[in-house]
Amino acid sequence: MQLITSIIEMQQLADKVRSMGNTIAVVPTMGYLHEGHLSLIRMAKQNADFIITTIFVNPTQFAPNEDFNQYPRDLNRDLAMCNTEGVDVVFAPETSAMYNSNFLTYINVEKITEKLEGKFRPTHFKGVATVVAKLFNITKPHIAVFGQKDAQQAIVIKKMVKDLNFDIKIIIGPTVREPDGLAMSSRNVYLKNSDRTNASILYKSLKFAENEILSGQTDLHKLKAEMEKKILAKENFSIDYISFNDAETLEDVDFVDLNKPLLISLAVRISNVRLIDNIVVKK
Ligand code: PAJ
Repeated sequence: MQLITSIIEMQQLADKVRSMGNTIAVVPTMGYLHEGHLSLIRMAKQNADFIITTIFVNPTQFAPNEDFNQYPRDLNRDLAMCNTEGVDVVFAPETSAMYNSNFLTYINVEKITEKLEGKFRPTHFKGVATVVAKLFNITKPHIAVFGQKDAQQAIVIKKMVKDLNFDIKIIIGPTVREPDGLAMSSRNVYLKNSDRTNASILYKSLKFAENEILSGQTDLHKLKAEMEKKILAKENFSIDYISFNDAETLEDVDFVDLNKPLLISLAVRISNVRLIDNIVVKK
């Protein structure tokens, strides 16, 4: 496995891999890898010849008051994990290489970035779309793999790829969870003991909602209130949002119609840690 930090070197290698007739899959990450990331790498391996994992904690997707500086980082550990998974290249650029002091160009996917996460993190998806577009231009993939864990991010990236005609197939991998149901996240390491134990309520409340809907519950206001009650019963928990949306378009859903997949998503603050999770309810 090769570690590349230079953008030009990465582009030249990608050209070479392509010219030899091999397909490239990229798995973009911010590092501090866990089984969720590794599951995406394994999906990438099943769908392409040459696997690139990018590791870059992207400053433009963090607001000034967010956890960019505290975001966990351990490149050596990540490299060992990628090596074990059979990744061909880890691309891990310096911030100054990705954003020089005269950087002026951003990608803004409109409307669908203004709700859910976008309401609480208004500049977040502009940073995500921009860095993902840059990573696509640098790694030149045929395929890119993202996780359902960040459901809105997956929808935003698919929209950007469609609208800007990137010739890249987007694959979305399922959310990998801890044994108690908590979605794996690099941020879980911040949770202190009792908060970590209580954090399983996020997935439990999503499963509760799914079961209720599949058993015929159609009153989403009532359902949301019941989810809120379960979550707020835990000490140190506060809710940014619980939302019901069309799983493909992100349109708000007021009436249950199980002919279309329904995305139930939430963002919860536990002490000073903000976690997101979601579930898709289908017939
Ligand atoms: P990061 O949070 O490191 O996540 C990298 C990828 O792993 C994303 O596609 C995310 O959805 C996926 N992922 C995270 N936790 C997962 C889990 N438990 N199960 C399955 N997949 C999971 O998302 C980002 O980085 C950044 O925004 C990025 C796209 C790299 C742009 O900077």
